[in-house]
Amino acid sequence: MPPLREDEAHKAEQRVAELRRLIDYHNYRYYVLDNPEIPDAEYDRLMRELQQWETAHPELATPDSPTQRVGATPLKVFAEVQHGVPMLSLNNAFSDEDVVAFDRRAREGLDHDGELVYAVEPKFDGLAITLHYQNGHFAQGATRGDGYTGEDVSANLRTIHAIPLKLPEDAPPWLEVRGEVVMLKRDFERLNAEARSRGDKEFANPRNAAAGSLRQLDSRVTAKRRLTFFAYGIGRVEGAELPKTHGETMDWLAELRFPVCQERRIVRGVQGLLRYFAELGAQREQLPYEIDGAVYKLNKLAEQEALGFVARAPRFAIAHKYPAQEELTVVEAIDVQVGRTGTLTPVARLKPVFVGGVTVTNATLHNEDEVRRKDVRVGDTVIVRRAGDVIPEVVAILPERRPMRDLVTPLHEAFAMPTACPECGAPVVKLEGEAATRCSNGLSCPAQRKQAIIHFASRRAMDIEGLGDKLVEQLVDKGLVRTPADLYELTVAQVAGLERMAEKSASNLVAAIERSKRKDLARFIHALGIRNVGEQTAKDLARHFGNLDALMQADAEMLMQVPDVGPVVAESLVAFFAEPHNRAVIERLGQTEAWQDGEAQPFAAGHLAGKTFVLTGTLPNLAREAAKALIEAAGGKVAGSVSKKTDYLVAGAEPGSKYTKAQELGVTILDEAQLLKLLETP
Ligand code: IVH
Repeated sequence: MPPLREDEAHKAEQRVAELRRLIDYHNYRYYVLDNPEIPDAEYDRLMRELQQWETAHPELATPDSPTQRVGATPLKVFAEVQHGVPMLSLNNAFSDEDVVAFDRRAREGLDHDGELVYAVEPKFDGLAITLHYQNGHFAQGATRGDGYTGEDVSANLRTIHAIPLKLPEDAPPWLEVRGEVVMLKRDFERLNAEARSRGDKEFANPRNAAAGSLRQLDSRVTAKRRLTFFAYGIGRVEGAELPKTHGETMDWLAELRFPVCQERRIVRGVQGLLRYFAELGAQREQLPYEIDGAVYKLNKLAEQEALGFVARAPRFAIAHKYPAQEELTVVEAIDVQVGRTGTLTPVARLKPVFVGGVTVTNATLHNEDEVRRKDVRVGDTVIVRRAGDVIPEVVAILPERRPMRDLVTPLHEAFAMPTACPECGAPVVKLEGEAATRCSNGLSCPAQRKQAIIHFASRRAMDIEGLGDKLVEQLVDKGLVRTPADLYELTVAQVAGLERMAEKSASNLVAAIERSKRKDLARFIHALGIRNVGEQTAKDLARHFGNLDALMQADAEMLMQVPDVGPVVAESLVAFFAEPHNRAVIERLGQTEAWQDGEAQPFAAGHLAGKTFVLTGTLPNLAREAAKALIEAAGGKVAGSVSKKTDYLVAGAEPGSKYTKAQELGVTILDEAQLLKLLETP
């Protein structure tokens, strides 16, 4: 390209500046506010135009141009960065008493009567970093390191879209912002899914994934990982009057377009701290990022200063930790359990370990492929994870801790799935393309029989009080019960003959079984334990067919008129009811009046039957309720959140995060006009 004439050069500069402003703004809407204003295609067009200008006229390129987020030439090593204001750590509180003591020390230190005001926020589980801005431009960014010296990871930080490269006009001439680089849970899942499909090693958790991604010498690798950032404080600032409180400092950073989390609050006194801890804990699983506690900071900066620091931690702040969700322990054995539908599940027997608030001795290894991939062996030291109410699982092994017979041979062999069912000895089957291995013996396998009866009696099914696992085991082992129908023929004398069963408890059980009769059809269908038929599907089937006879006679096509029933579920139902053994059991259960039929309220067989819609944003003409009613009248279903099962996202103005999610999952997005058209044309 020939050099530009002066007037042309001026125009080019203006357009480039305009493009950068636009891109920065839309970038902010998308990555910080999670609320995009324009479609991706439009954003891409702006970006392409800017790239063309910069390629044609390299003199226009700048380090803080949005085009610089793709990564730069790899480094040999990271340079060192001295922190002007040290990056200290926080003391931990592990109990309510620790928090009470922290608050007491603060009140004593300040000679303060009454309640103190605290700024409270999540403790992000990522990596601490500091960002330097000179005259509003991102100049340098560094890791925490030992608190005094960190590593210059500027090139990597530049690839993180949530980190502004240029600040608004009123930013101070020198500003240092501190916060945490994290990988969102959904981006972590995606990264691991990709690694899995390539046969690569997975990251154990989002924190490790974030750390591994940020400490790349090749920033083009970092650019491909999706990292984000949350600001939680400031370092050195020059040329600006600072707010008087931490809360206002965060608001100021938000105005400067730094991402600050939605979950921060201002509270009073110990009660306020503990209430926040409980509330944040309740939300923990649903948060898009991982946390390992809450951080409490005195809100008034003057009070912070008055209290100061001890050793390497502030007296004015503390991290209140939740019980760890991950711990290390040792695998003592690997057993294989047979479930209700005959699935063989490898289970690690662990040296007891306190994790996620309980003592864990077993963790699922899911299936054969998973054990192989993680290469879990007896004697291995493993990371166990228990998050919320989820079943504990083995996340990964620590290869360097594997016991060796000599320097190269592991003491234990790789896990292999048994070829015969460990419960009944029947051959196992593993279908092509399925992860599960199954016992081929159906309900002739005692393990499956036991699980089927345990499920039948469970609270959300027939709800037979007092019929627990141990009792079912005995009943099946003694040959008193083979199928759920046998339960209703048990006598007090038979039950009283079992271990630890007195006359009284035996008659209580028989009475509880009697009381469980005449359950509504939905519960009964659920109780049958048909593969792929959960509680909601059972409800929908009961509503649609009204009585069991109609359900048993339905073919796949008729079944698929029910919402969420696709070919797989329909096939499970048809196969279950075709089985003579199952028909015989149901016949007997019918004679004892185990359930009551109801009224059929068929789902409309509209042309959108089986399609799931999600609504987001404000539609120009239709109120949300009206749109929902129209979709349902055409047989469609309206769900609250976008998932792989969503067929259409109907998006109005200001669509929010559902829009992004739908784009990510490749869900068809409709506007109001397109929806109306779809509703019309059968
Ligand atoms: S404030 C003077 N706020 O916790 C201490 N730290 O143990 C300044 N962290 O390395 C830290 N979330 O990586 C603060 N909301 C939050 C935090 C937070 C996570 C991490 C940070 C730091 C460590 C301190």
